[in-house]
Amino acid sequence: MDKLVIEGSRRLEGTVTISGAKNACLPILAAALLSDEKSVIRNVPSLKDIATMLKIFKNLDVKVHQDGGTITIEPKGYKKHMAPYELVSTMRASICVLGPLLAKQRYAEVSFPGGCVIGARPIDLHLKGLKSLGAKIKVEKGYIIADGKNLRGGNVYLGGHFGSSVLATANTMMAATLVKGVTVIENAACEPEVVDLATFLMKMGAKIKDHTTHRIIIEGVTRLHGAEHAVIPDRIEAGTYTIASAITKGDITLKNAKPEHLVAVIDRLTEAGLSITKVPNGFRVRYVKKLKPLDVTALPYPGFPTDLQAQVMSLMTVTDGISIITEKIYPERFIHISELNRMGADIQLEGASAIVKGVKALSGAPVMASDLRASAALVLAGLAAKGRTDVHRIYHLDRGYEKLEEKLTKLGGKVWREKEK
Ligand code: UD1
Repeated sequence: MDKLVIEGSRRLEGTVTISGAKNACLPILAAALLSDEKSVIRNVPSLKDIATMLKIFKNLDVKVHQDGGTITIEPKGYKKHMAPYELVSTMRASICVLGPLLAKQRYAEVSFPGGCVIGARPIDLHLKGLKSLGAKIKVEKGYIIADGKNLRGGNVYLGGHFGSSVLATANTMMAATLVKGVTVIENAACEPEVVDLATFLMKMGAKIKDHTTHRIIIEGVTRLHGAEHAVIPDRIEAGTYTIASAITKGDITLKNAKPEHLVAVIDRLTEAGLSITKVPNGFRVRYVKKLKPLDVTALPYPGFPTDLQAQVMSLMTVTDGISIITEKIYPERFIHISELNRMGADIQLEGASAIVKGVKALSGAPVMASDLRASAALVLAGLAAKGRTDVHRIYHLDRGYEKLEEKLTKLGGKVWREKEK
């Protein structure tokens, strides 16, 4: 297993190119299973999660070809309908093959994904969405078994205790494209990744209306054709480099980044005193003055993304004053706190809010990554800290950040990978 070593206290500057969005790419790849024809997906990041999805495809006897950032999927004639435990257990997002398999094969068996370190992560909304289309669903031996003999359009409200669900919206929308009749998804998620998926589905011939809103209307068609699509840039990766610039008092230009996907993040960070300005095909992030503490609440889009909550917390640990960071999507997503405190941060958890008292400096330490975004937060803390930080268990980072150490090194960071002894 590898670890990431960071020599901190170095200012980052230069240009970084943002990769394609993992969270847009995964459901888009799954959507290609709705057709018999070839689809070509571009701007695909080279990540462990994408490789896992392609393994699921191979397991289904779907031909895939990868050439750098371009993936060609040839689903012609595939008959299988199962996503096994061995693969689903390594990536929860594998659940997004459920809707396409059900709609295309009228039957699907997908391993129940289970919880993870950031919380229980139920799938009731996925099942509710598919049941509203007439699917008969049972859970047996750890598998969701979905029968779609009588699928037809339906109306469904997809709001849960924590608001809308990104992948439940994706699953229901994908399945609805191929069933007879009209489906209305109320309280649909409208994250840019859902919009990108809808855009791809429409290129395949799906009839979707109002896909940028919380009420998506889908009129089923009898078949979808193959399509070509370039996925949107990764707003979470862009947000992470934005914070990297802030925490190292740097000056980073993000190429291939869309500020319109990061409105809440830009709002909060400019409020703190960061300079963020648009440039052609991206934006520039400059530390120009001492930052102020912030109140941040992670909410569904267009609110501040939960996937950047841990990273902004790292920034607030070294920002003078008291910041309050509240998590409204995953109230247990705070495992990074204990690791940040090991580096000298002063953070206390009060219910679903973290009270962060800014300290003068963090000090490098060995720390343990617990999930993808918490790992990114530890890397950011390491970039700011005095001395050396060893981030263990970086397989989490490999799931979601393309060429992280290469990109940070190019910006002037001292970051490298070592084998664990
Ligand atoms: C996606 C993202 C993930 C991000 C999350 C929230 C992908 C691959 N992953 O995950 O990085 O953190 O959105 O922005 O796109 N919930 C239910 N029942 C369900 C489904 C979800 O109660 O059936 C709850 C979840 O526990 C959570 C909230 O709804 O509290 C939002 O989760 P959801 O949007 O579904 O997350 P994912 O789509 O799995």
